Amino acid sequence: MSKFVKFLIMKMNILLLGSGGRECAIAWKLSQSPRLGTLYVAPGNAGMAAYATLLPQVKPTDFEAVAQAALAHDVQMIVVGNEDPLVAGIVDYFQNDDALRHILMVGPSKAGAQLEGSKDFAKEFMLRNGIPTARHLSVTAATIEEGFAFMDTLQPPYVLKADGLAAGKGVLIVPDAAEARRQLRDMLDGKFGAAGNMVVIEQFLQGIECSVFVLTDGEHYRMLPVAKDYKRIGEGDTGLNTGGMGSVSPVSFADNEFMQKVENRIIKPTVAGLKKEQLPYKGFIFFGLIKVEGDPYVIEYNVRMGDPETESVMPRLKNDLIALLEATATGMLDGQEIEIDSRYAVTVMMVSGGYPEHYEKGFVIEGLDEVADSLLFHAGTGTDAEGRIVTNGGRVLAVTSYGNDKEEALQRSMANVAKIKFAHAYHRRDIGFDLN
Ligand code: AMP
Ligand code: GLY
Repeated sequence: MSKFVKFLIMKMNILLLGSGGRECAIAWKLSQSPRLGTLYVAPGNAGMAAYATLLPQVKPTDFEAVAQAALAHDVQMIVVGNEDPLVAGIVDYFQNDDALRHILMVGPSKAGAQLEGSKDFAKEFMLRNGIPTARHLSVTAATIEEGFAFMDTLQPPYVLKADGLAAGKGVLIVPDAAEARRQLRDMLDGKFGAAGNMVVIEQFLQGIECSVFVLTDGEHYRMLPVAKDYKRIGEGDTGLNTGGMGSVSPVSFADNEFMQKVENRIIKPTVAGLKKEQLPYKGFIFFGLIKVEGDPYVIEYNVRMGDPETESVMPRLKNDLIALLEATATGMLDGQEIEIDSRYAVTVMMVSGGYPEHYEKGFVIEGLDEVADSLLFHAGTGTDAEGRIVTNGGRVLAVTSYGNDKEEALQRSMANVAKIKFAHAYHRRDIGFDLN
């Protein structure tokens, strides 16, 4: 057998870092590849045990523990699911160590991860590279007066963003000018901890949002299916923000004309900018976009996949994910062609009663075995002392279904949600409601 053929069919042990619905969907997709040796997930959740060996004691931000696990299990590739280890520099940690350098890493370097780790950095990067985004000013406690003056040039509502990572809670949208000034002061006074030492004040953009995902090897890029997530707890997009109550893919308004603009005005200059500014990046880029009068603007970058978008994106990706990720990590993405399932996928999130505010955990989940015709991705689940699957977080389960249209997919997901029981479960019934 030629070396090349051997390379093509060589199996890989993979370590996936994370414990949410996103990582469950990635684990599911990886598990379908004939290239998979053993999949390890750290720390993982109860549902991922179906696809992977769990390493519940390994914390993704404890690089030494991750390295030990990777070496002990002869791991050839690490896929980083969430942003924290990336922003903290896990990719650099592996690449700067002789004993670890051989392990392929899917995720940006610490420098590249600033696209998510610092909103000020991301805004300046977009300015330097001519990427359309809302007008902004970054301020600190020392320059708060300039911030007030900038706010006076904006129309309400006012958008205030903590510069650093704030677990998705660092963005405030404030309708009233006096209240916005108060909030700006509170943020700079430490309301979000060090993440708010700098605050980005932004022009509010009115439009409809979608999530565009790209894999890049630092030189080339490939676009994954587009999705839209539903962040508010209540139907009709009302109530508090959550980690995401559901998602749909594809997105009707992200048509060819719009996506052409996205590619030319946003994706290409982003990938070229990363290269030009020497920000090593081999991984996912998540473009949080808003469509304003037909044109795309970047609301935010994330350096990972979205959750719950991944739960509707992965099912539509026909490619072997290992081949794609290996090509990403080795700079060979130009040899890959993305194939997308033309069906719709709709994800409905089942959450704990009371989420996103106070909620209880530990309720037994029943009916999981009755799910048919849908994919079930665990998010906040665990196993109790008697081995039963129990709730272990705000967002508990993602139920994804295919359909010839989004209504059919939604109905399928809802039919399966109805079979799953745990105390005080809640879900939205209107995922996709605002799309044609
Ligand atoms: P988060 O997911 O907590 O980071 O919240 C970000 C959300 O705030 C986005 O998904 C938008 O809905 C909203 N947002 C952020 N920046 C802007 C902006 N400049 N104009 C309008 N909405 C924004
Ligand atoms: N669904 C939005 C995010 O993952 O940040």
